Amino acid sequence: MLTSFFAPASQPPLGIVIVGAGTVGGSVLDVLRENAQTISARSGRNIVVRAVVVRNIEKARTRLHPDMAGLLTDDWQAAVQRPDAEVLLELMGGESTAKECIQAALTAGKSVVTANKALLATCGDVIFDAAHAAGKPVAYEAAVAGCIPIIKTLREALAGDTVHEVAGIINGTSNYILTAMEKDGVTFADALEATQKMGYAESDPSLDIDGGDAAHKILLIARLAFGAHATMNDVPVVGVRDFKLRDIRYAAQFGFCVKLLAQAVRRDNGIELSVQPTLVPCTHPIASVDGAMNAILVRSAYAGETLYYGAGAGAFPTAAAVVADVIDIARGNGALAQHGNGTPLPSLIPADDCSAPHFLRLRVLDMPGVLANIASALAQQNISIEAIHQNESAPGQEVDIIMLVHEASRGKIFSGIKQIENQSTTVGAVVTMPIKRFL
Ligand SMILES: NC(=O)c1ccc[n+]([C@@H]2O[C@H](COP(=O)([O-])OP(=O)(O)OC[C@H]3O[C@@H](n4cnc5c(N)ncnc54)[C@H](OP(=O)(O)O)[C@@H]3O)[C@@H](O)[C@H]2O)c1
Repeated sequence: MLTSFFAPASQPPLGIVIVGAGTVGGSVLDVLRENAQTISARSGRNIVVRAVVVRNIEKARTRLHPDMAGLLTDDWQAAVQRPDAEVLLELMGGESTAKECIQAALTAGKSVVTANKALLATCGDVIFDAAHAAGKPVAYEAAVAGCIPIIKTLREALAGDTVHEVAGIINGTSNYILTAMEKDGVTFADALEATQKMGYAESDPSLDIDGGDAAHKILLIARLAFGAHATMNDVPVVGVRDFKLRDIRYAAQFGFCVKLLAQAVRRDNGIELSVQPTLVPCTHPIASVDGAMNAILVRSAYAGETLYYGAGAGAFPTAAAVVADVIDIARGNGALAQHGNGTPLPSLIPADDCSAPHFLRLRVLDMPGVLANIASALAQQNISIEAIHQNESAPGQEVDIIMLVHEASRGKIFSGIKQIENQSTTVGAVVTMPIKRFL
């Protein structure tokens, strides 16, 4: 049984195979059905689902429309080879089978749409090379920041521009946690539990709270914006797992909010990549991005700063991005650049050479000479202090000292911190975060 969602258009229908009918795949089916008339009109072709592939065909699927029942199969290999399908939607997630499935589809001459950021971040070279060899697109708008059209923006709207930097809040779970800590004064553990109850965070939230998910996305952005072929090893990643409420309070005293910022920045000597809790001025629009929302700032030579805001994940925002890619392919916009800007591969700046002003929080014994010793350790690394705050305390008691230091490389900051931590008056580990002031 073939299921067409709408009346005939002048062009032949576009057959698609959907692999995965979970959160995203199920919602894609809903959008295709509910919005069939508009999608058909905008595509110039009817979109026809030829098969829906799942892992467990026996599973009860209450949300699946009855029309779809006859299309269910657990045989992705056969579905990929269907001669009546031009496009494969890989919405199963995971790496190994998803990679095989995409490669098989490209070899069979199909275009591919995927939401699988983890796969593209780790196997992007192999997949985009296969796409290039097959002369077919691999579209992946849904893989980065849900419904925010950042891939199309970089690939199309800014195609004639030179991107200097991309900085974004691209993990909704982490942003929800940081917002709850800031606004409601809750601990990290309580904020995480709330995100899990609301369905934002997985039962194993490691990829979100340890920064891996944001790193996957910034790798895809860097590939497109700069042609950078980087791997996870090239991205210094710090998540929000160990983040403390008091650092939000201390940052606020200096006029900053804390956001998990993913950055890809073009410097004179290469591309700098990072994912870290970062101080941003409370007056900057990005500081007001709260809850599970995402925002991405792009700074380019001609357009200047542009800012994109929206739901970064979730069933329907992600499905909307998947369907937009299908429409693009139906319209014949498939021959899209996959490999960044075609210029020579830029070099990647090693993590220790990445520079920024920094926030430091030290716990020390309040004794004569302590500040001088700290300043001396920093001076030995050529790090100068911009501002200091110390709470009231009594001699000999433990007290927090907060410092903002001027721009220095991450390597020098960590060497300075190591020296400070070795001083007998320092209690515990020094906390540091970069500061992003924007231009
Ligand atoms: N959820 C989001 O908000 C979101 C946002 C952006 C991107 N994404 C990405 O979208 C992709 C899908 O995520 P999801 O949340 O929709 O996952 P999900 O709810 O777990 O659904 C996965 C679907 O794939 C099917 N599947 C898994 N392994 C399979 C296999 N080996 N063969 C055939 N079918 C298989 C499952 O079948 P059964 O139903 O039989 O188990 C299920 O229908 C992932 O790459 C994810 O990173 C998700």
